[in-house]
Amino acid sequence: MPPSPQVVVVGSIMQDLTFACAEFPRAGETIMARLAGGQGGKGSNQAIACGRTGMKTVFIGAMGRDGFAGQVTAFYRREKIGCHLVLKAGQSTGTAVILLNREGQNQIVIEPGANAALAPADVPRSLLAKARVVVTQLESNLATTAHVLRVARQAGVTTILNPAPMRTDFGPALLRHVDILIPNESEFVALVRALPGIRRRGFDERALQAMPREALHGLCRQLGVPTLIVTLGRRGCFISERSGHHFIPAHRGMRVVDTTGAGDAFCGGFAAGLVRHKGEVVAAARLGTAVAALSITKPGAAFAMPTRSELQRFLRKTGAA
Ligand code: RIB
Repeated sequence: MPPSPQVVVVGSIMQDLTFACAEFPRAGETIMARLAGGQGGKGSNQAIACGRTGMKTVFIGAMGRDGFAGQVTAFYRREKIGCHLVLKAGQSTGTAVILLNREGQNQIVIEPGANAALAPADVPRSLLAKARVVVTQLESNLATTAHVLRVARQAGVTTILNPAPMRTDFGPALLRHVDILIPNESEFVALVRALPGIRRRGFDERALQAMPREALHGLCRQLGVPTLIVTLGRRGCFISERSGHHFIPAHRGMRVVDTTGAGDAFCGGFAAGLVRHKGEVVAAARLGTAVAALSITKPGAAFAMPTRSELQRFLRKTGAA
């Protein structure tokens, strides 16, 4: 484990079972697919994306006492990324079933398993307090997510929440402890529909896409979080800060193999960029955009995160270094 991690990611780790098929099945239909196992979980994917940029990173999460935990520990050791794994007796490691179609798009169903049992006491306060940036999501235990954000904020650490996957028990009180919120389009729509004060019935992804940037910025401001970044898939991302708004286009011409974990790649790359660029959000988002662009060119989630040398080569090639 790095002696003083700059980025701490607290969240989920999953065993991914990816079924690659030509097209997604329709209701009632049985189709053939090729199966590949891999390492996933939004939290762990983000930690690996961040750590592979060369940033000192630690992942904190929970797994079952099974063979997969040993493989994960060995992987983190090889990658020289810190990991604090809590093994939960009587729980199985979280599992994600991923359908991947020939366009590289995915549909995911998860069973959180041990991730749901990650407790506040499992997260060392000393690790949170020493970090520059703490990142979390909604795929493990919600009470622990709230605890992590609160403790980190109190310690003066920058907090990032990726509200993925959006869930019905999500409470807006959580946002009080968030410095930077990174939803994708569907998560942003769910937030806008759910939050008291701005609740907009009928607001959907199409309405979001049609919104002029100034109006979107105004809507983002109503969420009450200092910085909001809406990831817009192949289009890029929209940044709303107190001081104004920006749009960062995605890289064009990438060969799309598998988009699983692209949002995680963005979040991990962004967290690394935030430390590297001393809190400069736009520069950090450029790094996140580059990490995400490379992640979709390989199969899988965690294993598809770009290595440091791949990223440096890409940044030089695209002039973004
Ligand atoms: O964001 C992609 C991830 O979501 C997959 O790796 C899967 O494990 C699910 O958690």
